[in-house]
Amino acid sequence: PLVGTKEMFKKAYEGGYAIGAFNVNNMEIVQGITEAAAELNSPVILQASAGARKYAKGPYLRHLVEAALEVNDIPVALHLDHGADFETCKACIDDGFTSVMFDGSHYDFKENIKRTQEVVAYAHEHGVCVEAELGKLAGIEDDVKVAAHEAAYTQPEEVEEFVKETGVDSLAIAIGTSHGAFKFKPEQCTRNDEGVLVPPELRFDILAEIEKKIPEFPIVLHGASSVIPKYVKIINANGGKLDDAVGIPEDQLRKAAKSAVCKINIDSDLRLALTAGIREHFMAHPEHFDPRQYVADGRSYIKELVEHKIKDVLGSDGRA
Ligand code: G3H
Ligand code: 13P
Ligand code: ZN
Repeated sequence: PLVGTKEMFKKAYEGGYAIGAFNVNNMEIVQGITEAAAELNSPVILQASAGARKYAKGPYLRHLVEAALEVNDIPVALHLDHGADFETCKACIDDGFTSVMFDGSHYDFKENIKRTQEVVAYAHEHGVCVEAELGKLAGIEDDVKVAAHEAAYTQPEEVEEFVKETGVDSLAIAIGTSHGAFKFKPEQCTRNDEGVLVPPELRFDILAEIEKKIPEFPIVLHGASSVIPKYVKIINANGGKLDDAVGIPEDQLRKAAKSAVCKINIDSDLRLALTAGIREHFMAHPEHFDPRQYVADGRSYIKELVEHKIKDVLGSDGRA
């Protein structure tokens, strides 16, 4: 069934695992994710950004998710990713989303509280959960570009007041993750023996401080793709050019999943998997032009990726 995130997060917190929040933009992405989750009996969050709603048109996304649930009935939350304003959040709540994010992270603290409160009031009236954000991620947050030097970690002293004043259900924090497939510049990283870029560690010390201030409160990690080398290699071996793509190492995500982090956002990894499948298909079969042939290969890699995340990283298998 389509469910909210409250119960999901409570169980995830108690069970020491995290729920994967995967971005959806089309049918094959929805299928790949939900088939993987169903096979592993895992709850999952499907999230749509403003860009996804513009690309697919809102009703398509909702109906695609409803169709997926007719085929595989697992607990799925339909979530708005990075809602920029009250109107966008309201539109999604009215459209049947079970959870919304209001991203006021670029406002000052008081303004972020005020705007988040307005969304929470409307959402809770309609039984919908709200995620908010404190701190700024480096990289690209939808149309809000945050220069790396402006990236600001979440300040633990602010979280208690923010959560109390706003009444939000979960909080996204900035502890060193960032959006996209190029999360760190090569000069921010070291290289291992194989020449692979190794990024700086996430700030688990800040996470620990935050957990002390708001015990048992569900924390969200955005920008948590690991940029899996397998898919980057396939892309580059089949005509692509993604130099120095780097993500969050999975052992750090495993560690986060065991903590108060209950939701881990993954979009770039899906994009890479889909692209890898399609590029590989075209190189192997230059004579093909039936989309069902090449998009299916992208969908298979999405399914493989999500199975791996659920089983080997998030630990949400068997928790549906
Ligand atoms: O946080 C950003 C997500 O990856 C969504 O990206 O706005 O291009 O759909 P998008
Ligand atoms: P990635 O770019 O790391 O996949 O992050 C996705 C995200 O945070 C969506 O909100
Ligand atoms: Zn995000």
